[in-house]
Amino acid sequence: MTMTGRSTIPGSSRRGFITQAAVGSSLALAGSRVTTGSSALRQLNVACVGVKGMGFADLSNVGKHSSVRFVGFCDIDSERFDQADKQFANVDHFVDYREMLTKLGDRVDAVIVSTPDHMHAPVAMMAMSLGKHVYCQKPLAHTVWEVRQMRLLASKKNLTTQMGNQIHSASEYRTGVRWIHDGLIGKVHEVHSWVGVNGRQYCNRLDRPAANDTPRNVAWDLWLGAAPERPFSPDVYHPFKWRDWQDFGSGALGDFGCHLLDPVFGALELTAPISISAIHDGINQEVWPGPETVAYTFPGTRRTSASTVQVTWRDGGLQPPLELAQLPEGVALPKSGSLFVGEAGVMLLPHVGMPSIYERGKKREITEKVPGGNHWHAWVDAVLEGKKTTDGFDFAGPVAEAVQLGNIAAKLPGSLIEWDSQNFMIGNSKSANQLLTKSYRPGFEVKPA
Ligand SMILES: NC(=O)c1ccc[n+]([C@@H]2O[C@H](COP(=O)([O-])OP(=O)(O)OC[C@H]3O[C@@H](n4cnc5c(N)ncnc54)[C@H](O)[C@@H]3O)[C@@H](O)[C@H]2O)c1
Repeated sequence: MTMTGRSTIPGSSRRGFITQAAVGSSLALAGSRVTTGSSALRQLNVACVGVKGMGFADLSNVGKHSSVRFVGFCDIDSERFDQADKQFANVDHFVDYREMLTKLGDRVDAVIVSTPDHMHAPVAMMAMSLGKHVYCQKPLAHTVWEVRQMRLLASKKNLTTQMGNQIHSASEYRTGVRWIHDGLIGKVHEVHSWVGVNGRQYCNRLDRPAANDTPRNVAWDLWLGAAPERPFSPDVYHPFKWRDWQDFGSGALGDFGCHLLDPVFGALELTAPISISAIHDGINQEVWPGPETVAYTFPGTRRTSASTVQVTWRDGGLQPPLELAQLPEGVALPKSGSLFVGEAGVMLLPHVGMPSIYERGKKREITEKVPGGNHWHAWVDAVLEGKKTTDGFDFAGPVAEAVQLGNIAAKLPGSLIEWDSQNFMIGNSKSANQLLTKSYRPGFEVKPA
């Protein structure tokens, strides 16, 4: 079966204030191919960008699907192919994703994007513009505008996408969503989500290091990609510690927001927040803040008790007031989780654990559980069957937009940001509005959908 001729949809809104050059404009637009003989022989040809860290978790899980064959591994660090090679031998190596996607062309049906956050959109948008289905790590992208373009392009090209938020498919989070839909705590008044890490704990610095180094095994220019140039320093950015730096990562909210807020969006059927504000102990131009509280107001839904609903995010060890939780004596809040406060009790949903319902200090015994699924295989199956996933960019996009709006609020602590999602605009603050997007280094631009 050849999957070409994808339908297009009208209405991809282009923002006047964003004028970005086309990326890969010289590349021919090739349709992707999913080869099928009989259903038992169906095969999905997958290329991976970023193959260690979470990238290895992604490819090893996707690769356990009997219909998947890997056709290209791309990593900017020559020492990080070892695990992938050990498990899947004889897959071609690439250093530059642009070269991989160009060279492999039609031999690629789908792409896994597991790079640091600042490169999700450049890679995923190029892949989708070439007609490839995409599995992209959370938080989907680095700016609100990038997240919106990814959602629009996936829809325009009718691609099967999934955000790499595997607990979306876990029994624990699915059960929490079901219990709210079943009305077990009635309509929801407010939600609190919190995580026990803060936005600068991994790099543990406030400023760039004075010393720099020449990387042996790292193609630093490609690692920087879309981000402004700066010298390489060992053990400061790559691997993993990039998440604390504003140019590359998205702080604690970006690291965990898409995980914890996923069941909040699912349970309450949230759309876009209408206002956001943040408080913390200070921020500079380099790293994300330490412990922060981000307050979101969303329009109310059929799951909420009022015309608006408050969702409060906390990180760095901050937690909601214990008295809200109605917990029995001696029961503590988990290190990370969400608390849904409803008309008829509260639901505590640990990250990641089975939910519990409490009412005035007593636990209600509820046995109903929703089974979990395999998030990676759900994407592969959906691609092969020409279907959509439950965590496609249409669902994940609004979650990731809210997360990155929270990060805009964190850059302007104490200000109330009024978000007009329909018109893609923060109308009450020019400085906040400018933070919806960013500029790109030449060669790594993201073209509007
Ligand atoms: N879903 C989850 O539970 C989960 C957990 C951890 C990380 N993540 C996400 O996965 C992504 C990767 O995080 P990580 O902790 O594995 O980071 P990492 O720095 O440990 O690993 C990133 C990998 O990508 C490679 N890489 C970096 N830039 C690249 C580029 N331009 N082209 C090709 N390869 C490149 C690196 O060499 C490295 O092998 C992030 O988006 C992060 O938010 C998700």
